[in-house]
Amino acid sequence: MEQELVSLQNQAREQLATIQNTSQLEAFRIRFLGRKGQFSTIMKRLGKVPKEDKPRLGLLANGAKREIEALYSEKQTALASGDSGVSQCCNTIDLTLPGRKPVPGKLHPVTQIMNEVCSIFEGLGFAVAEGPDVEHDHYNFEALNIPAHHPARDMHDTFYVSDSILLRTHTSPMQARIMETQQPPLRVIAPGKVYRCDSDITHTPMFHQVEGFLVDKNVSFADLKGVLTIFTQKMFDKELELRFRPSFFPFTEPSAEVDIACVICDGKGCRVCKRTGWLEILGAGMIDPEVFKKVGYNPEVYSGFAFGLGIERIAMLKYGIDDIRLYYENDLRFLSQF
Ligand code: PHE
Repeated sequence: MEQELVSLQNQAREQLATIQNTSQLEAFRIRFLGRKGQFSTIMKRLGKVPKEDKPRLGLLANGAKREIEALYSEKQTALASGDSGVSQCCNTIDLTLPGRKPVPGKLHPVTQIMNEVCSIFEGLGFAVAEGPDVEHDHYNFEALNIPAHHPARDMHDTFYVSDSILLRTHTSPMQARIMETQQPPLRVIAPGKVYRCDSDITHTPMFHQVEGFLVDKNVSFADLKGVLTIFTQKMFDKELELRFRPSFFPFTEPSAEVDIACVICDGKGCRVCKRTGWLEILGAGMIDPEVFKKVGYNPEVYSGFAFGLGIERIAMLKYGIDDIRLYYENDLRFLSQF
């Protein structure tokens, strides 16, 4: 038995020295140190040796097993730190490989157009003002000459928070908010989100508008036309014909809906402009004297124009997108094109 122990110990030492990877090491462990391994088998036989030999042989067997266990865990550490062939190749960094590129974020197309619109008007001397999305009925309607039960309220598909609080349906309340606190001359744009209970390929319940208005002495419709002409030319990078169609808004008089010659077909007629050659891009008009009276301006002294344009609509025309909902589906294949 003594002989056997010594030779088992030697055998184990020799084998361990040749081991190069973790799977070989595991096979070694099972063979020598496992529950049914060679050391266990010898230990079991210890029970049957003569009483007087037991202490000596026990000591010897335990010592031998412990030595092999220590060598085994040394080898385990060595392999883990990459000291041997196989694990070395897994742990080395290949400095010749190209690095992983971080994917840079981009501004949302609506934000890009919004920024572009604002900077064009800033270039024309307009100041930027922002107001609340959750608005009083007063600013959204009353101050804009739309009293309770006025049929014009019907067009707005309003989300109400309470009887007198709502999600603004347009950016026009900013006209009243600014005029209430400031005196003319005024040249202001108010960009922001607006909300209407409406959803199809050309409407989303939340969308973006930019309101613009100018108040001074002797402001005329020609000034409105001039500002909008410069704006559309800069926005679409070409000289575009404008068309004013008579329309109605309770807070402007006269009112107009403004079209540009179709940017897709240059006014010849195509699917996007529904063969008319024209695209509607905004609502506008001369500020109604009633609106001036409500904020304490004298309509005999001051006049002004206002306009409101939809950002998603302009982005759709500029990029030739036919479904507004694409802007809000967060599909990176769409968004990363801008
Ligand atoms: N507020 C109007 C709308 O949302 C647009 C508009 C603004 C019209 C200013 C005239 C003057 O439809």
